[in-house]
Amino acid sequence: MVSTVLTRSWRADDLKLLRQAANGFSERTLTRRFLTSTTRLPGGYLAGIERPDRRGLHWLGQVALVEGELVGLAECAWPVSDPDHADLAVLVADAWQGHGIGPRLVEELLCVCVTAGLRYIEAISDLDNYATRTLAQRLAGQPGRRCGWTIRNTTHFNLRQMVFTHRDTRLGEV
Ligand SMILES: CC(C)(COP(=O)(O)OP(=O)(O)OC[C@H]1O[C@@H](n2cnc3c(N)ncnc32)[C@H](O)[C@@H]1OP(=O)(O)O)[C@@H](O)C(=O)NCCC(=O)NCCS
Repeated sequence: MVSTVLTRSWRADDLKLLRQAANGFSERTLTRRFLTSTTRLPGGYLAGIERPDRRGLHWLGQVALVEGELVGLAECAWPVSDPDHADLAVLVADAWQGHGIGPRLVEELLCVCVTAGLRYIEAISDLDNYATRTLAQRLAGQPGRRCGWTIRNTTHFNLRQMVFTHRDTRLGEV
């Protein structure tokens, strides 16, 4: 039987699911996500998701679930004082990579971010991260799937940066 992947916005009790899913993320996957060598979800990271306000941040998440287990998370965080500089990141459990879950979560999260009033988002990954390169190409090639965001890809030394900008429809721009 083919498992169904359900995606939805983050709920507070998903933190428990994320902790339970921790063993599904290899060192390689976690290191790619956090851009530093790590074998586990950093404690400070989990605390930040639980109480982003303590760090002066707003935070949004979009999760992927299979049979009630968390298999992916895309997230966006930005300073309360500066909504013009948001950071986006995405993480998919090793066993579920290569099934289109990462791009799906990012596309959905980008749409939620528009509703949240964001107009500028950055995402950083290693330059040799093949999966994020294809993710960027897929997003760039499918304007209809990204809720009005424009994407620019740049490289800085050994990092790839995706910059998402959004026309502010509230101002009635054409
Ligand atoms: C980046 C990431 C979110 C992409 O999610 P995903 O659901 O695997 O994305 P896709 O299914 O579209 O796969 C992307 C490409 O990577 C390939 N791929 C995915 N997992 C792979 C694996 N374990 N080994 C080899 N290739 C893999 C896919 O075949 C696909 O290539 P294709 O388009 O040429 O077929 C996911 O790989 C991941 O969690 N990586 C670790 C964390 C990370 O790098 N985050 C980004 C920085 S914040």
